Order: sequence, then structure tokens, then C-alpha cells
Amino acid sequence: MTTPREQALIFASNNSNRFEETMKELVRIPSVSTDPSTIPAMQQAVEKIVEILKATGFSQAEIMQTEGHPVVFGQTRPGQDNLPTLLIYGHYDVQPADPIELWETQPFEPTTRGDRLYGRGTSDMKGQIIASLSAVESILKQGDIPLNIKVIFEGEEEIGSPNLPAFIRAHKDMLKCNYILNPDSGLISADLPAITYGLRGLAYFELRFFGPNHDLHSGGFGGTIHNPAQAICEVIAKMHDANGRITLPGFYDKVIKLTENERNEMARLPINDDFYKDITGVKELWGEKEYSANERIGARPTLEINGLLSGFTGSGAKTVLPANAMAKISMRLVPDQNPEDVYTQLKEFLNKNVPPTIRWELTQMAGGSPCIIDPNLPETKAMSDALETVWGIPPVLKREGGSIPIVADMQQILGVDSVLTGFSMPEDAIHSPNESQHLPTFHRGVASIIHFIYNLIGKQA
Ligand code: BES
Ligand code: MN
Repeated sequence: MTTPREQALIFASNNSNRFEETMKELVRIPSVSTDPSTIPAMQQAVEKIVEILKATGFSQAEIMQTEGHPVVFGQTRPGQDNLPTLLIYGHYDVQPADPIELWETQPFEPTTRGDRLYGRGTSDMKGQIIASLSAVESILKQGDIPLNIKVIFEGEEEIGSPNLPAFIRAHKDMLKCNYILNPDSGLISADLPAITYGLRGLAYFELRFFGPNHDLHSGGFGGTIHNPAQAICEVIAKMHDANGRITLPGFYDKVIKLTENERNEMARLPINDDFYKDITGVKELWGEKEYSANERIGARPTLEINGLLSGFTGSGAKTVLPANAMAKISMRLVPDQNPEDVYTQLKEFLNKNVPPTIRWELTQMAGGSPCIIDPNLPETKAMSDALETVWGIPPVLKREGGSIPIVADMQQILGVDSVLTGFSMPEDAIHSPNESQHLPTFHRGVASIIHFIYNLIGKQA
């Protein structure tokens, strides 16, 4: 006799094509959260998700408004508050597709090549949303389980979830749960699953430099008027010292040092400097010398220039002294740093370092707190066992360089840590042209979540 778990796994493998088709339907919707012109797409995306939830077997599935893009909430057993509850988090928004000309096929026309599905959001994270729902469907088809499954899918993760903390605060009861699954992280490679126990935070800024009141002839004024393009480069260049350390006053004060134990664990990850060279194509790595690449990405803060704009950038030549310059600057934060502190530190730095020839403005944009999660929770064990069952080897524990701001907020507001895992991998090119999802890994992901949920139920018995 087959168990419900085995039947669910069989159901998943019999329906694998349909699951892929559903993922494609969602990828076709260009739900770019940062682009105001895509508001209709956000609506289309939430409507599509509600439709999928209903087909999955959710008794409740609804669109809920926020100050920004809408949220989808659903649950399998509404009103059954006596049951333990698993909350699954996801974000249906994606990053912009540009530069579009670098895509081999259209970003919002999902296309299979080899064993990969290409399209914006396939890996980050529409694929993971569909993997989760496919697992839930496979389970529900085998009968009721003693667990209420709730879902919350937001549309603003890629812009720092500005409205989700308030939404969660306002709907604390509705979102009450014992466990949270957040499959927005990744594995190390197709052969090596991972559980993430730390995420970096983010503080994002736009810095504007203003010089003369209009663009000038560079011959008539150069050498007399401080060029804002040059000035912004001079100031940005001072933000790191020769050892790759950030020079904002007090920047490292709250950074929690890595313990020897953590450093030893990180050294065991099967990722070394050559891995980063191979995957990025650079000749040499860069950064704080006293830390390995893994440590720099998982556990050290950074300051990045994400974009620079000034003067003439068209084809040909134009002898201009531009009137202004702009830089997008972001910092990845680690515990116990926070976005407000580094905002103050950046202002202090600018007050001290911007020359009197320039007027400047600083705007605070996306942000989120870093977090560390207890790696010894029973639900983490349930996931670890699930991944080991499917992959045949235990997952590695890692700290992730990326950010998922709501994880720290959920910790704080709901008092529940998230199980962070996922089925995207470094070569999936998330946020880049030609993002893809490795389909065999997607299907292993479905199987892992099936095992995870049955393991959770088992744990309560
Ligand atoms: N899924 C990513 C975070 C991530 C990246 C986890 C790589 C694991 C590996 C998430 O969607 C993301 O990109 N977040 C943004 C958040 C930011 C805009 C506040 C990020 O990290 O840039
Ligand atoms: Mn992302």
C-alpha cells in the first residue's frame, strides 16, 4: 500500500508538465514592481495567483489592498484555528528586464532551451511560488491533512517591501502561524541543496550633485567651474579605503564579528574564490583582504555604486560640462546594522566630503534589516530532512548575501522565524538578462516541499 506521501510524489511527477505550464502563465505577466506603468500587470498577476490558488485547493484566496501593490492571501482550512499553521511567503513582483537587447528570447515570453526555462522571474521567484503551490496541490489531492496552510504573496519585495510590514501588523491574527516557509533563497548548485540562516539587509540611496545652473561649454568654463561628474566620482572614490573597507563614520560599529566556529563552517562550503571568478568572468576578486569571498558575501557589509548618470552618453562626442550628476548607492548590511544608522552616517560623510562647489541632495529608497535565523528549529530540521531525502545528501547551511527584508519584520511582528531555502542557483542569472530556472531542480523543489510538509505533520504526532 502506498502512503499519502508516496501518492503525492507520484501525483507531482504525473503533473510535472502542467506545473511548468502554470509557471509560464505567471512569468508571462510583466509584474515589474518598480515600474509605475506596470500597475495593470500587478493586478493581472494577483488575479492569476488567486485563480491558481483556487485550482490548488485553497478554500480562501483573495486579493487584499495595501498602500502599494496588492497582496494575495489564502488558506486551506479557514476558521480551523486549532490546527497548527504553516505560512508560505512569496513575491510575485520581478526586477526590470533591461537591458532587454541582451536577452536571447523575450523576458516575458518564457522559453525552454535544454533543461532550462528562460524568462524574468522564472527563478526569482515565480518558479518557487509555483513549486510551493504544486507541492500543496499534490498533497491536498490525497486528502485532508492536520495542518492549515496559509499563503501570503506580495508585489513589492524587489523594491524593499515598503508597505508589507504595516500590512502584517494590521493583519496579525489572519497571519498567525507556527511555521513560515520562505523559498526565495537558493541552492549552491544543482547537486547541492542549502538552507539559509542569515540574510543581509539593504539601504538604498539616490545621490544628486548640482553644479552650474545649466550645461556649459567645457572649453569656455572647464577648469573654472567644478564639474559635478568629476566631483561625484571624487566623493564616491573616498567611500572605500585602499583595503576595501568602507569609510563612513561608525559604519562597522554594530557589525557582529564572525565567530571562529562560523568561519570554520563557511570554509567548508564548496565555494572558493575560483568559483566567483569562473561564474563572473573577472580576472581578480576584490574586497576586504582579511575575509574570504564567502565571508565577504555572507557576513560583511558592503557599499555599492549601482548606477551613475551625468553628461553626454550618446554616440559621438559632445564637449559639455554637465550641470549635474547622479549616483545610485546601496549598502548591504549585516546584524546589528540598520538602514537608519547608515543613512545618518552617509549624510555625515557627505557633509564632510562634498566640496563647497557642489550642492547635493540625498534620497532614501528601498531598505530592510539584516537577520539571523536559529538554524536549530524543528521546522528547519523538517526541511533539512526533506532536502536530504530528495538530493541524497544533507543541505549545507549558509548565510546569503542578498536581502529579503520581510524576514526580519516577520520575526519581529509575528514572532516566527522563516525556513529559508529555494531552488534557484548562482548560474540562474537572477536580476540579469537571460534569467532562467533549471527545470529538474524545480521538480526536485516540488518533491522537497511535499516531504517538508509531511515531515512537519509527522513532527506533531
Ligand atoms: N531572492 C532575492 C534574494 C536572494 C538573492 C536570496 C540571492 C538568495 C540568493 C530577492 O528577491 C531579492 O533580490 N531581493 C532584493 C531586495 C532588495 C531590493 C530590498 C535584493 O537582495 O536586492
Ligand atoms: Mn530578486
